[in-house]
Amino acid sequence: MLGRAGGTKQLVMRGLILLIGASFGILLLSFTIDRFRDNQVDISEKRVDILLSELGEPKGLHFISELDPEKVKKGSELVLSGRTTSPNGKPTKKQSRYFVCIDCHNVVREDPVLEDPNPESRLKYAVEHKIPFLQGTTLFGVVNREHWYNDDYLKKYGGLVAPARDTLVNAIQLCATTCSQGRLFEDWELEAVLHYLHSIGLTVKDLGLNQSEIDKVTDVNSTDKIGKSSLLKQHYSQISHATFLNPLSQSERKYGSNGSVDNGKLVYDNSCLHCHRDGGVTNFVLSHEKVDFSFLKKHLSGNGNKSVYYISRKGTYSINGYKPYMPNYTLERMSHQQLEDLAAYINQQASK
Ligand code: HEC
Ligand code: HEC
Repeated sequence: MLGRAGGTKQLVMRGLILLIGASFGILLLSFTIDRFRDNQVDISEKRVDILLSELGEPKGLHFISELDPEKVKKGSELVLSGRTTSPNGKPTKKQSRYFVCIDCHNVVREDPVLEDPNPESRLKYAVEHKIPFLQGTTLFGVVNREHWYNDDYLKKYGGLVAPARDTLVNAIQLCATTCSQGRLFEDWELEAVLHYLHSIGLTVKDLGLNQSEIDKVTDVNSTDKIGKSSLLKQHYSQISHATFLNPLSQSERKYGSNGSVDNGKLVYDNSCLHCHRDGGVTNFVLSHEKVDFSFLKKHLSGNGNKSVYYISRKGTYSINGYKPYMPNYTLERMSHQQLEDLAAYINQQASK
């Protein structure tokens, strides 16, 4: 009896020792893995443009390696409010009397998946993050793109945008004058804007790499620089595509019959009201009053600026002496379905 009891006890003890030993082993192993991970440089905060240049990719003409916080600050003031203080302490003249950059562009991430920017997921993301849904592509990550004013902008405006296609500085100046209806940035302002735009460039954590991809990119034993840089580039779009659309013909329009009222409200609130609110960039103020929806509903079937189907795709041109105008939405910035959703919302609100 005693002997057997002692035997069981011994067995239990052995089991315990084994268990403790094993857990130590596992603990040790995880420590070493952690240590190994620690030794591996943490690249999550690293700028993607710097990493790519270290991998032998050509730098953009606008590339800045060391950011100057003072210039970043002045650049952000110029982009967010259109003015800053000059190096000798004087307030600058407003860049544009009509617009600031953020009337049409976000300056934060706006797409959940950077390699697949699309208006459907962008609208959801905009609502979740309380940011507007706009015609211009976000300036977040604009320094990481390789061409600007793409596809139909080039086709339609040709010579005007050609110099801006390969050179970010030219793209900024073009937008400052043509989109913003303002003056050119002075050299020091432009430099400040570029410092700011680099400060909102992509860092590695924005790309959402998984652990094995991070291991690949940081593998010091691999000399496959091209493989590493193409892996990075697969995770974001190097250009912002732009497809211009003609307004749907009257018979193609579904007048919201297949639209989601809820989504339509999101388009209205996060996009239209960004500019058409009281105090916005245009005197044509829209609200949640029935009278505004009745106006929009009445003109839905029209073929002029008052029709949402028409103006969303065509935008307006600025008229002499009155410079605010409405930029068009490309297919990449508002889908056909979203426009129908908006029509559904307008119809519903007008018949309340
Ligand atoms: C009235 C609207 C509007 C204003 C104001 C505006 N932009 Fe734009 N911008 C656009 C549109 C529309 C495009 C077309 C390409 C795109 O962004 O998809 C564009 C394009 C650009 C591009 C090229 C983006 C790309 O990836 O092709 C840059 C850079 C830019 N703008 C910078 C600025 C800056 C800086 C300001 C402020 C000085 C500014 N914009 C003001 C509407 C505007
Ligand atoms: C980036 C700013 C901006 C956004 C976003 C915007 N608009 Fe506009 N919109 C304008 C400006 C500026 C005008 C004035 C153009 C003019 O007077 O020539 C205008 C004009 C209009 C007009 C014509 C009014 C008239 O009597 O001629 C309609 C209708 C309109 N917008 C509807 C919309 C709708 C619907 C949306 C959302 C899908 C929208 N806008 C989004 C800036 C914007």
